Amino acid sequence: MQSMLRILTSLLLIFPLLVVGCEREEDSAPPVGSTVGTLTAETTNQAAVPVGSKPQAVPQNYPFHHDGYDLAAILPEERTAITKPLTTIFGTPKEPKITAAMRDESGLMFELIEKGRPLYQAKCARCHGISGDGAGPESAKLNPYPRDFRRGVFKYRSTAGWMKPLDSDLHRWVQRGGVATAMPAFPELSEAERNAVIMYVQFLTVRGETESFLMETVLDEGDLELPLDDVVEEAFLAAKAWDKVDDYVIKVEKKLKPTGEVLTAALVRGKTAYDAKKARCVDCHGKEGRGDGEQNNLLDDWNKPKQGGTPEQTAAKRKMYPLPMQIVFPRDFTEKAFRGGSEPEDLYKRIYAGIGGTPMPGLGATPGVKAVLDDATLWDIVWYVQKLSLQERKEKKEKKSNEK
Ligand code: HEC
Ligand code: HEC
Repeated sequence: MQSMLRILTSLLLIFPLLVVGCEREEDSAPPVGSTVGTLTAETTNQAAVPVGSKPQAVPQNYPFHHDGYDLAAILPEERTAITKPLTTIFGTPKEPKITAAMRDESGLMFELIEKGRPLYQAKCARCHGISGDGAGPESAKLNPYPRDFRRGVFKYRSTAGWMKPLDSDLHRWVQRGGVATAMPAFPELSEAERNAVIMYVQFLTVRGETESFLMETVLDEGDLELPLDDVVEEAFLAAKAWDKVDDYVIKVEKKLKPTGEVLTAALVRGKTAYDAKKARCVDCHGKEGRGDGEQNNLLDDWNKPKQGGTPEQTAAKRKMYPLPMQIVFPRDFTEKAFRGGSEPEDLYKRIYAGIGGTPMPGLGATPGVKAVLDDATLWDIVWYVQKLSLQERKEKKEKKSNEK
């Protein structure tokens, strides 16, 4: 990611050149309502893009995002004020121009983004969308939805304080797939290919966060004359966030599971902490970890904005988003494998850092913020959660074999 910074830094230096170079092309706001290829009714506001020779099943279009806004009420000049700087800085999702412009400046990373683009479009875009909006052609039928990368928020991290994940977190996720989600594993990708596709995902987060900034500035604040420097600076900040995680990496030792009396005592303490007010696990996950706590009607950060004050308002918001509102359920520990990994260290990280973008809080310390629970208690809870899940599964298995 280091070199992503170089890309954007050098952008700052050469962007006048870019503006000149790109102006003609960006002038034309893409036509509204045109439909090409695999578009569904959900995505008819997507803009048509000239289609070259591309592998099959790649979504050929990229949307004009208007999340939270009524498309019909967006003026053409507002639309241009959003898409023009965005395409000047990043190109289109289909053809990221930033990379072409940066060829001499940023060596390796340029190559990574370039290499990642076809991989992403061939393997990821059908779910995550060509622009990373999580609304690809296959997304609507999935629960949970594919990640919308535009917020730059990730769930399963080795970092606390709601910081970006480590590259290694993303590597693992792509290699293993989203366990117990619709996302397949990609064992066929070499490490170099994973590097490339992950860099491309990071690129899409920077683009998406910049896009959100533009939408707010243009549509909320009515600023149609935002200098390009300001937009580039915002993009720069979004890129920099990927490099600011060092102080937030969770230090976790590989622990051997205690046995005998030590384990029994840990489980008693773990249960007490799980049920107690400080951790509130029980409020969401329920007494037996079946995801049936009192708080079971929750929304994550991607879906929260889709909820209005009244059912009518919520219904009215429906057309402002590509996908319908989706509830996030506190996990039933007895149902399936844990998505972020079932090793004790994985569970420790989940409880330490919380799950990004969801209501599940983090309880460990972060720079400047004291821990809610001390380390020993976090481990007690880890063993207790593990017990709730594994024991249940064992019991089910035993019951089954008894029935046979
Ligand atoms: C069949 C659909 C599908 C495909 C194909 C797919 N994903 Fe996903 N992906 C998902 C779903 C669903 C989630 C959300 C999982 C969740 O929220 O628990 C997800 C989540 C993610 C996340 C977020 C993990 C986190 O910690 O928040 C990343 C990163 C990711 N995918 C990368 C990729 C990459 C890279 C590819 C292509 C190599 C890819 N995905 C292909 C469905 C898909
Ligand atoms: C405010 C509600 C809330 C509280 C409190 C809460 N969780 Fe969660 N938890 C969730 C939600 C929601 C999910 C599912 C997130 C998702 O699927 O994206 C989740 C998921 C999990 C997972 C699954 C992780 C994985 O890798 O699949 C574990 C384990 C977990 N919680 C443990 C705990 C423990 C232990 C506590 C207390 C220390 C706790 N949670 C407190 C809401 C909560």
